[in-house]
Amino acid sequence: MERSVLIDELRRLPLHQTSVVRVLSVLDDPNRGAADVAAAVSPDAGLCARLLRFANSAYFAASGRVGSVEGAVVTLGSSVVRALAISAAAGLLGDSSNVPDRFWAHSGSVAIGAALVSRQAGVSPADALSAGLLHDLGAAIAYRHDASVYGVVAPAGEYDVLAAERERFGADHCELAAVALEAWNIPPSLVDAVRLHHAPIDAVEAPLGRAVVAGEALVRVTLGDEGFVAAEPCDDPEGALAAVGIDDAGVAQLASRLDEQGGEFGAMMAAA
Ligand SMILES: [Fe+2]
Ligand SMILES: [Fe+2]
Repeated sequence: MERSVLIDELRRLPLHQTSVVRVLSVLDDPNRGAADVAAAVSPDAGLCARLLRFANSAYFAASGRVGSVEGAVVTLGSSVVRALAISAAAGLLGDSSNVPDRFWAHSGSVAIGAALVSRQAGVSPADALSAGLLHDLGAAIAYRHDASVYGVVAPAGEYDVLAAERERFGADHCELAAVALEAWNIPPSLVDAVRLHHAPIDAVEAPLGRAVVAGEALVRVTLGDEGFVAAEPCDDPEGALAAVGIDDAGVAQLASRLDEQGGEFGAMMAAA
């Protein structure tokens, strides 16, 4: 595929999803509150149901049952609502054949990993969680154009998915996601975090980007690689964790929470 074909399509994507564009613009308006977000979401029954399900999940439901969409928006916070709205609008939810093998298991784990290292990286857990959920969005978008790029079985390190994506699509999944997110008018800090998620951590200055790189590194050293993830590069994950001040003892402390919460969160996204 010519680079321009896929990228042009990504730029046009928002035009087909006016209700989501409205939700995203309300989320970005500091003068609008949870009631306004709930009102913008309300025409989209599927998104309402997802927000309620997530707000009542074990991860978020700290204080009892959430019965209204407005309550769900308050419980989840705007960055998580944004990540779920984008995931739904990009067609990543509801049909596992739309995403690469173990996509949500991986993205759910990286989301929890980023949230677990967020304090050390200097961002809020909710912002880190949301960036982790969306970090491989580009791979899911490209997968729908040509799944064969993601089905290659090769020993670890012998298949470079980023190079294969550049050859096939003219851009790797980091850049493809950044183009799509820019077209959605997503906050630049989130776009940059997704664009730079395979860069060495020393090349990433913004706290949100460092949280995603370190979160993915935590997933690598504790859970390993499977599915499309095995083809994703992750050089020196221990170094990435050390760069945000997490040593071996810190990794050991976070590992069990990552295993438990990451698995639960990935399963919830896969079933959403
Ligand atoms: Fe990636
Ligand atoms: Fe990843």
